[in-house]
Amino acid sequence: MQAILDYIEQNRQRFVDELVEWVKIPSVSAQSARKADCGRAAQYVESQLNSIGFETRLCPTAGNPVVLGKHHKAPGKPTVLIYGHYDVQPEDPVDLWQTPPFDPQVRDGNLYARGATDNKGQCFAHIKAVEALIQSNGELPVNITFLIEGEEEIHSANLYDFILKNKDELKCDVGVISDSSQFGPGMPAVTYGLRGIVGEEIRVTGPKQDLHSGVYGGAVANPCNVIADIISKLKDQAGRVAIPGFYDDVLELEPWEREAFAKLPFDAKAFNDSIGVPEASGEQGYNVYEQRWARPTLDVNGIFGGYQGEGSKTIVPSWAGAKITMRMVPNQDPEKIHQQFVDYVKSIAPPSVQVTFKDGGGCGAVMVPRDARFMDQAIEAVKRGFGAEPVFIREGGSIPIVLTLSEELGVHVLLLGFGLPDDNMHGPNEKFSLDDFIKGIKTSAWLLHLCGEAK
Ligand code: BES
Ligand code: MN
Repeated sequence: MQAILDYIEQNRQRFVDELVEWVKIPSVSAQSARKADCGRAAQYVESQLNSIGFETRLCPTAGNPVVLGKHHKAPGKPTVLIYGHYDVQPEDPVDLWQTPPFDPQVRDGNLYARGATDNKGQCFAHIKAVEALIQSNGELPVNITFLIEGEEEIHSANLYDFILKNKDELKCDVGVISDSSQFGPGMPAVTYGLRGIVGEEIRVTGPKQDLHSGVYGGAVANPCNVIADIISKLKDQAGRVAIPGFYDDVLELEPWEREAFAKLPFDAKAFNDSIGVPEASGEQGYNVYEQRWARPTLDVNGIFGGYQGEGSKTIVPSWAGAKITMRMVPNQDPEKIHQQFVDYVKSIAPPSVQVTFKDGGGCGAVMVPRDARFMDQAIEAVKRGFGAEPVFIREGGSIPIVLTLSEELGVHVLLLGFGLPDDNMHGPNEKFSLDDFIKGIKTSAWLLHLCGEAK
């Protein structure tokens, strides 16, 4: 392994340069104007895989293409499927970025750009690990399939079908995903749980067009007022979701988990400062880790409607809308929660407006058992790559396809996050520590090596 670790150190700068080229491409899947950029990002990663000897395919879907890369030249050895995504979240509000989101810059050892950590940087770490193994040894210790998609940030709608249709080709012994975080600086993690998600969009429609608020105000329901009223009824004062039945199927935290989470260091002031709030606020009876990782919740992601321009405009707006997501924990069924949401909102909406719904898709939560195949190897790899014993954590984010991957392919998926909690995923000034990039590459190389040696 020494030759491989040396290769990684010696090629460090080139690895960063190549990552920069990928991150420059504004592959925002939520915006149709960026469709061609998504295609370019797919091609870039395909050519990367191709250049290190992978058999690759750029597979069209109803949305953005899926990149498939295979290197199956280790008969008798396990097959590792590595998943990642080349699409990124929108970059706005762009004026809050210190340097432009798609003009990657290195400051203080961090690469700043949209997609630096989520997920191009973390995904690239695996590609460069594989390159290092191939260039140093002329072969790989295991069979590898890369599955890199371009719609993760919009619920992976087309990947479900792709997996069902290509089940044979995707057959593997274990899945690996690096699209999450370490516990903190110097505290790498193995993640054993992710929350699921249910997305909703509601639109409240009132008068057929904007009305003069002096002439009509007081006699007509105002869609902006109504949507605020609806939203205020979605959660109660104790921080619980008020939708009837929402908690029915929730799997409670195990006592051992509560004990383990309580032992993790937590500095309330540092946490509040890190996100710039006067104090944290969440469901009563649970600590912040429990609230973020293991309890379901509901957040309004955006409210819109009415006049937003300069100065004032005295109107009763014709309509208002909101985008909402709910985070799921194990045993909650996204379909059922979606229906409960729709039924509840209908039941509280006044008859003076019309409410319409747009289903934003969803996925269930995922748990990775401690005795999952290759979990020991993952722990050892993180330890060697990052130079510290990993902590076991759950995380609150969602990777929509994980559950399908593991159910359809019959494998467990190891979640090895190389980022940091303050990498500003989805926010302005997203970053990825270049040291963590290199440690991630080493972790991946160790993991593949150890999987190849496993009995
Ligand atoms: N990388 C994240 C998921 C994540 C973030 C896992 C932090 C663990 C810790 C992923 O790219 C993501 O943002 N997923 C979306 C999915 C959604 C758009 C369907 C999410 O969680 O909001
Ligand atoms: Mn993301």
